[in-house]
Amino acid sequence: MNATGSMGLAVAVRPCRRLLAAHLFPGCPHHRLPSAALFLVPGLPHDRRHFSSKRPRPLGGGGGSQRRYASSWVRAAVAPAKDGAALSDARRLSTSVGPLSPGSDRALEQILIQGLAAVKPLVIERVEPEKERMAVVEEKVDERAEVAKVREESESMKEAWRLLKNAVVSYCGSPVGTVAANDPAVESLNYDQVFIRDFVPSSLAFLLKGETEIVRNFLLYTLQLQSWEKTVDCYSPGQGLMPASFKVRSVPLDGSKDGVEEMLDPDFGESAIGRVAPVDSGLWWIILLRAYGKITGDYTLQERVDVQTGIKLILNLCLSDGFDMFPTLLVTDGSCMIDRRMGIHGHPLEIQALFYCALRCSREMITVNDGSKGLLRAVNNRLSALSFHMREYYWVDMKKINEIYRYKTEEYSQDAINKFNIYPEQIPSWLVDWIPEKGGYLIGNLQPAHMDFRFFTLGNLWAIVSSLATPRQAEGILDLMEDKWDDFVGNMPLKICYPALEDDEWRITTGSDPKNTPWSYHNGGSWPTLLWQFTLACIKMGRPELARKAIAVAEKRLQKDQWPEYYDTPTGRFIGKQSRLNQTWTIAGFLASKLLLENPEMASILTFEEDLQLLEGCACNLTKSPRTKCSRHAAKSHF
Ligand code: GLC
Repeated sequence: MNATGSMGLAVAVRPCRRLLAAHLFPGCPHHRLPSAALFLVPGLPHDRRHFSSKRPRPLGGGGGSQRRYASSWVRAAVAPAKDGAALSDARRLSTSVGPLSPGSDRALEQILIQGLAAVKPLVIERVEPEKERMAVVEEKVDERAEVAKVREESESMKEAWRLLKNAVVSYCGSPVGTVAANDPAVESLNYDQVFIRDFVPSSLAFLLKGETEIVRNFLLYTLQLQSWEKTVDCYSPGQGLMPASFKVRSVPLDGSKDGVEEMLDPDFGESAIGRVAPVDSGLWWIILLRAYGKITGDYTLQERVDVQTGIKLILNLCLSDGFDMFPTLLVTDGSCMIDRRMGIHGHPLEIQALFYCALRCSREMITVNDGSKGLLRAVNNRLSALSFHMREYYWVDMKKINEIYRYKTEEYSQDAINKFNIYPEQIPSWLVDWIPEKGGYLIGNLQPAHMDFRFFTLGNLWAIVSSLATPRQAEGILDLMEDKWDDFVGNMPLKICYPALEDDEWRITTGSDPKNTPWSYHNGGSWPTLLWQFTLACIKMGRPELARKAIAVAEKRLQKDQWPEYYDTPTGRFIGKQSRLNQTWTIAGFLASKLLLENPEMASILTFEEDLQLLEGCACNLTKSPRTKCSRHAAKSHF
């Protein structure tokens, strides 16, 4: 089925019309409208996007064997369950998974998920065994809550929990997410919305506390918001895109003067400042889905047909062919946590690390059948190619920088050493003195004749967490961060990127952005939310003491400063110029970091180990072209 097939009615969707439709047909989601309305307002709220509180969508199980997860709740997060028949091995645990024969088809495959649009189910019925499922999850939740009670909570943790609970957003009486910030002193803009990326630390804190319902609801409702129209209109989201954020709106109830009903209104970037595309949302959603399964043992959620379809739509969007020659994802500026112009268009590290992680999660979660084999092969192939590319071309340390310094340019051949034609003059002067003898990092971006040597923290941390970086590289990144502690942590962990763009570089790259002035906000500001991801990486690498040290620095100030969104200055001394207070992911990130340190084994719900079989299928082996020389040995040498 193509875009103009049975989905044709919804093809020309304009965001403004979606809202217009909400007003024309208040409380009337797509499936309840007369069919004529579809023609009158072609962009009316799709029923996967807006829901009426009159008939809240039940989020019950949509199939799968409900008993499979029983008794594997906590165990699931730390070790394989014993009842081997019950769950597919791939999913169950350990963080590495036997690949689905990466070598069986060595060609890099193009993915076409035929007819997906036609199969995405719209109605999810609550089924009876759901009660049993909930009973098992609740039992486990009680156990965890008991353990949590025994533990002494610091004053700052108590306040953080109180604020996090205040931030919870409900839809039709059920918790579905947390607002980005609760700061009454400033205009809320879109900070009163639930951001997909911001909710990840909230969900981690809730999951670690044993509160799973909010996460399950979030996963299912955001799935309902996912764009699944194949649109050709400008400013319309592509099929599979997850929104950046959503808001629960109250609209007048059809035919009643006083009554109101609730609806979910997503923002795919069409209202966002700068109209930035939320490329990371779908990746975060997949990562969270796996974590939810691992910690609750409730694998029925990811096995549901609608959830499987949601994963496939995201992958389809990410794996579809474009003009690009690289295995990395080509994106526009501001498509991730840094959602403003900051010169990160192209192949930014953050997106690549999350992409790699989401591919590894998907590989575990996609149900293997004839219909999914092609997709799984493509996932494996992409994983191999992507890890090779990143390890080989993004990694810099003292030795590599010296190599670049001596590069010849204008090489035309398959054997070129300087494949991207990097001019040595590009090595910035700050880097020459800054790079230590020991350690290294993955650069921010790589394009023809362009290496962005800035250190981007989120991408480097997720390269560790997901094993996109080799074990040696992962060690090297933490070595560097430890060595440059004042630059990364200083008075507040952690710097979003290092160093800041200044003077002409700032003017040209940001367009003189007054929010992103040097050492502020996205331009070298310090973001406490990065702490949970640092903690995760430190635990994975067996260096929890580093995380403990950073958390101690944060704890001294966060509560006192009222949980700011970000800090300014090279050492993070000042609360950020336009920083919101009571920023939810600052609060949740702090809680999640503390809880992870207390339960380090729980880090495995998010981490992955090195998978040697993926290395076997490196990019060069995958292409059948005799002209391509394999340089896998180079990649392996890091290992
Ligand atoms: C800012 C951040 C973005 C975050 C949003 C809500 O725009 O750059 O990453 O999701 O605020 O907190």
